[in-house]
Amino acid sequence: MKWKDMLPLLSEKGVIDRFHKLYYNAHSGTWRNTFWFGVACQKCPLDLWIYQELVFELKPDRIVECGTADGGTSLFLAHMCDLANAGRVLTIDIEEQPNRPAHERVTYLCGSDTSDAVVGQVEKFVEDAASVMVILDSDHSKEHVSRQLSLYSRFVTPGGYFIVEDSNIGGHPVRPKAGAGPMEAIQEFLATTDKFLVDRDREKFYLTFNPSGFLKRIK
Ligand SMILES: C[S@@+](CC[C@H](N)C(=O)[O-])C[C@H]1O[C@@H](n2cnc3c(N)ncnc32)[C@H](O)[C@@H]1O
Repeated sequence: MKWKDMLPLLSEKGVIDRFHKLYYNAHSGTWRNTFWFGVACQKCPLDLWIYQELVFELKPDRIVECGTADGGTSLFLAHMCDLANAGRVLTIDIEEQPNRPAHERVTYLCGSDTSDAVVGQVEKFVEDAASVMVILDSDHSKEHVSRQLSLYSRFVTPGGYFIVEDSNIGGHPVRPKAGAGPMEAIQEFLATTDKFLVDRDREKFYLTFNPSGFLKRIK
C-alpha cells in the first residue's frame, strides 16, 4: 500500500471507523453476542455506559424503549433505575417472547410502536412524569424512524434525551448496503425542529452505534 493510501486509515476518523467495523462484524456480530445478566442485549457496552450516566444524571421517572427483543437492555435500564432509586421502563415490541426477564420496574407492551393503540399507552405511561427518556430501537428503516421521531418527540421532557439507535448502519460506517435508515431520519427531523440538538459529548468514547443519535431536548 502506498503511503498516501494509508493516510485516511491513520486519521482519527479512519482509526475509529476501522475499529467500529471490526467490532461490529466480528464473530457474525459482536452486538449479537453481548449479554446483561445472561440476557441478550443488542448494544455496544460503551453506549450502555452512556445510558448509565444519563440515568444517574437525569433520574428519568419514565423510560420508553421501542424494540425489546430479548429484553437485555430493558433489564439493564431497570437495574440502573434500581441503583438510582427512581424510574420505570415501558418496552414495546411487535413480537411476543415468552422468556423475557421479569423486573418490577419493567412493563412489556406488545404491538407496533407507531400504532395508535400503542402510542396511546405510551401517553398514559408518561403522563405526569417530570422527566422522560425515549429510546428508538425497533424497525430501523428511515420511514419507520421518521414516523417514530414525529410521534415520540413530544414525550421527551426538556433536558431529557431522545436516543435513536443504530444510526451507524447504511454506511455510517457499517452495513453500507442497508440503505437510508436512522441517520437519514435524524437529519430530516433536525431540519424541522429547534427543540433538539445532537449531543456530541455522548459520543465521547469514540465508538458508538448511535452517531448523531443522542438527541437532547433543549426547549
Ligand atoms: C434491534 S431489536 C431491539 C433490541 C433491544 N432494544 C436491545 O437493546 O436488546 C429490534 C426489535 O424491534 C422489534 N420491532 C420491529 N418492528 C417493530 C415495530 N413496528 N414496533 C415495535 N417493535 C418492532 C423487533 O421484533 C425486534 O425485537
